[in-house]
Amino acid sequence: MNVILLGPPGAGKGTQAKRLSERYGFAHLSSGDLLRAEAQADTDLGREINSLLEQGHFVPDDMIISIVLSRFAQGGDGYLLDGFPRTLQQAERFDAALASNGRRIDAVLSVVVPDEQIVERILGRRSCTNCGAVYHVQFSPPQQADVCDACGGALSDRSDDTRDVLVQRLNAFHEQTEPLVNYYKARGVLHKIDGARDIDDVFADFCRVIDQVAGVHS
Ligand code: AP5
Repeated sequence: MNVILLGPPGAGKGTQAKRLSERYGFAHLSSGDLLRAEAQADTDLGREINSLLEQGHFVPDDMIISIVLSRFAQGGDGYLLDGFPRTLQQAERFDAALASNGRRIDAVLSVVVPDEQIVERILGRRSCTNCGAVYHVQFSPPQQADVCDACGGALSDRSDDTRDVLVQRLNAFHEQTEPLVNYYKARGVLHKIDGARDIDDVFADFCRVIDQVAGVHS
């Protein structure tokens, strides 16, 4: 089963993807994490990606499609895609690539959160510089301020989590990614999730939909 998580920045895609992967054994494929890893390389490509991310601009479709497809080339099903696709061109080319291998997307979970809540979530996010675990100063705080519960690493802000860059990221989402809702609705795989609730309640909804799609009645 291959599942896509669709939603604005700060919708909780990464938070839920981690839990879903633990429960269902999905391979979690986060386009943002893949790009941040590439951006650390001291190369022209690394610097180009870093600059785009810091301004909240999407990387070119060709670039992200090739990165994601190289992961998919290993074959098999059971992927949870977090942050990809996020343009119509990415969605169409991804569908075509999957179909040519007899594979498909089984469910697209579209997480809906109003922009006002997004601002609060993004500005309060802290991530572990060592293991990548994600916290929120108010909604999901670590036991000790600025220290990761999981590994003891230091917590820090993401460089694109500023008010100014967030405006650009939200605009990009509304203009380029939201049209995917109708694209996947027309293909009969879209499920809307109200993401403006407690993390556990949102997770329960995700599980309900995935169990339903998988034909497991819990
Ligand atoms: P990416 O890393 O994918 O960023 P994003 O889509 O902006 O999403 P975020 O990671 O910011 O948020 P999230 O939804 O995962 O929320 P989280 O769970 O952390 O991409 C980064 C950049 O890479 C993009 O801007 C773009 O430049 C580029 N890029 C990536 N993919 C691309 C593509 N396909 N094409 C082109 N460019 C691409 O939660 C956020 C906070 O809220 C946390 O603090 C969390 O603890 C808290 N929280 C989560 N859920 C709840 C809840 N229910 N209630 C209260 N708090 C909550």
